[in-house]
Amino acid sequence: MITLLFALLAAPAAAAPSLNADVETQVQDLLSRMTMDEKLGQLQQLDGLADGTARPEQAELARKGLLGSVLNVRGAANVNALQREAVEHSRLKIPILFGFDVIHGYRTVFPIPLALASSWDPALVKDAARTAAVEAEAAGVRWTFSPMVDIARDPRWGRVAEGAGEDPYLGSVMARAWVRGYQGGDPSQPGRVAACAKHWVGYGAAEGGRDYNTTEISERTLREIYFPPFKAAVDAGVLTFMSAFNDLDGEPASANAFTLTQVLRGEWKFPGFVVSDYKAVDELISHGVAADGADAARLALTSGVDMEMVSRDYASNLPALIQAGKVPASAVDEAVRRVLRVKFLLGLFDRPYADQSRESIALFSAENRAAARRAAARSLVLLKNDGNVLPFSKALKSVAVIGPLADDRAATLGSWTGDGRAADARTVLDGVRAALPRAAVVVSTGGAIGALSDLDISSAAAAARAADAVVLVLGEMADMTGEASGRSTLDLPGRQLELARAALSAGKPTAVVLLGGRPLALGALLNAAPAVLEAWQPGTQGGDAVADALFGDANPGGKLTMTFPRSVGQIPIYYNHKNGGRPASDKYYSSKYIDGPWTPQFPFGWGLSYTTFTVSGLAVDPVSISAGGRSDVRVYVANDGARAGDEVVQLYLRRRTADVTRPVAELKGFRRVSLKPGEDARVDFTLGPKELGFLDRDMKFAVEPGDYDITVGTSSVGGLSARLTVAP
Ligand code: BGC
Repeated sequence: MITLLFALLAAPAAAAPSLNADVETQVQDLLSRMTMDEKLGQLQQLDGLADGTARPEQAELARKGLLGSVLNVRGAANVNALQREAVEHSRLKIPILFGFDVIHGYRTVFPIPLALASSWDPALVKDAARTAAVEAEAAGVRWTFSPMVDIARDPRWGRVAEGAGEDPYLGSVMARAWVRGYQGGDPSQPGRVAACAKHWVGYGAAEGGRDYNTTEISERTLREIYFPPFKAAVDAGVLTFMSAFNDLDGEPASANAFTLTQVLRGEWKFPGFVVSDYKAVDELISHGVAADGADAARLALTSGVDMEMVSRDYASNLPALIQAGKVPASAVDEAVRRVLRVKFLLGLFDRPYADQSRESIALFSAENRAAARRAAARSLVLLKNDGNVLPFSKALKSVAVIGPLADDRAATLGSWTGDGRAADARTVLDGVRAALPRAAVVVSTGGAIGALSDLDISSAAAAARAADAVVLVLGEMADMTGEASGRSTLDLPGRQLELARAALSAGKPTAVVLLGGRPLALGALLNAAPAVLEAWQPGTQGGDAVADALFGDANPGGKLTMTFPRSVGQIPIYYNHKNGGRPASDKYYSSKYIDGPWTPQFPFGWGLSYTTFTVSGLAVDPVSISAGGRSDVRVYVANDGARAGDEVVQLYLRRRTADVTRPVAELKGFRRVSLKPGEDARVDFTLGPKELGFLDRDMKFAVEPGDYDITVGTSSVGGLSARLTVAP
């Protein structure tokens, strides 16, 4: 037996970047020599051109010392050209900070963050971030607008693809992994970039799943559900935050003194800077809290937004506002201090330029591609596998690969792909061909999702009839998820269900591979198809990773980090809901629907494997502790099937009776374990004040005396139970 001893808290969080006396002296010295215009320049970020070059105006501003940061200017030569203007020609030679959305890889594209989270493997996420940082930094990018740590409970919202899903605990573990992977211990080192925790805060709660929409979240839910991943990012040393687009309880997140100043700077002592989201400062006018750009600048700056992305309200209005006494000059100084601090911590003054000789070596290396393939394989979630249809035998003589996404490079690559190229992406068709070089591959991709014709559907059936097994690749095209891509239904778009039914009517062993960036309502497809593999948007090497799983070289071990609803009408649906006074049941007056089930299609934490696991021997020791005490939880997991595979052991907590209502389950620990057939392992967790405590009626974090139910299992439903008592 392998003994795996894992503490619940995993690695201790690194301290938030503490103020370094040397850096503070340098910042102060510089600040004391800056004119107001130069200060405001440091608070301005402008957008480059789509091809990675700067706009001509930006070179001029850089020369005058009026440009603190740009986004989208990338590529070592482009970066160095603009940087030279600032570093060699401006009065104070303050380097520009180059930012870019490196969301799931720079040139080598990893699976989308929702997929990476589904690996339940923070070390994998950290490595993916590290690889992305090495590539980005080689291309001159010193700051990524990642990770997105927004909690998402609504799959209509297109940006669920960019986050870790619905759970604050898992979201916190992943936030820490992303930040550590990007920044390392010392973000000034080559191969490191500054991370940015976004979007602060509540953005994922957009009403109706419509991007940018208003949000309404109680302070308790903010603090218990939406804040924790951001706090984890701060604890991991994240250098920057991005203020969100949404308005929150009447105050836009980009002019919200409670979140930006009271919580972030006051309670959490965050020393880095906050950049607004794209034009979010100017959008305060449209929100209706600012009458004009001057108002917007005053509100955003004094609430705690340090750098303005793209709009120019700070530079245009702050001099007059300060003159008129409407904004204290000290507010500008403080914002500039935060920006300069990050520039020093990043080593920008010592190493402002990209090393052009490294760029081509670092990007898209064989090693990075292998890492992306491994990450994609570990992110797969096997949703259904009746009769062990999967894995297919490699001895198949012929396979039909069917569906509009089977050879769609963009849909495979993902929705926010940095400097990745669709042409590089390995599709499922590529993967199947490479995995079975001697088999006949019958291809029927048909037209685009929105244009599937009767002929496409009959061709799919014919292709299926002509083969020994069928791989159906269905889902969403690349641009159906991501920013501004809310959906009002979660059905398979277009006529894909019809196409699937036609192919399935051939009666061949068939597996559906789903590509996409969000949970879909899959009921009809699940009724028709024996096997469904959720592959998300798996990145550059996605098709090979999928083929690894289809033919048994990899065994899917991922688990869902967002609940899959049965229908749009069930949204919001998430595992850590409250019980309510009349919890859902068959009783008439209970919290149910009259026209369908209240249970999800697939719960949080769900995922199958080609092998089977048994969890046993749950023990809690001691079973009674004091409020400050700790207790160890032990469990065994055994692979009792015939293949090597991974199981994710999950620990949930429930406080049945408390001072305030509590969720029916809260994830408080997990561990992905790899086991050979017949092997078993012990998994240990520790529960202490951090896991047991919650906000009481007065919003104070405390451990209440009483009983805590512990459930350990392989999803958020079912498992073994035990009790821990906190003595009064
Ligand atoms: C997005 C951010 C992104 C920024 C810069 C905005 O539209 O909301 O997530 O970082 O653009 O590209």
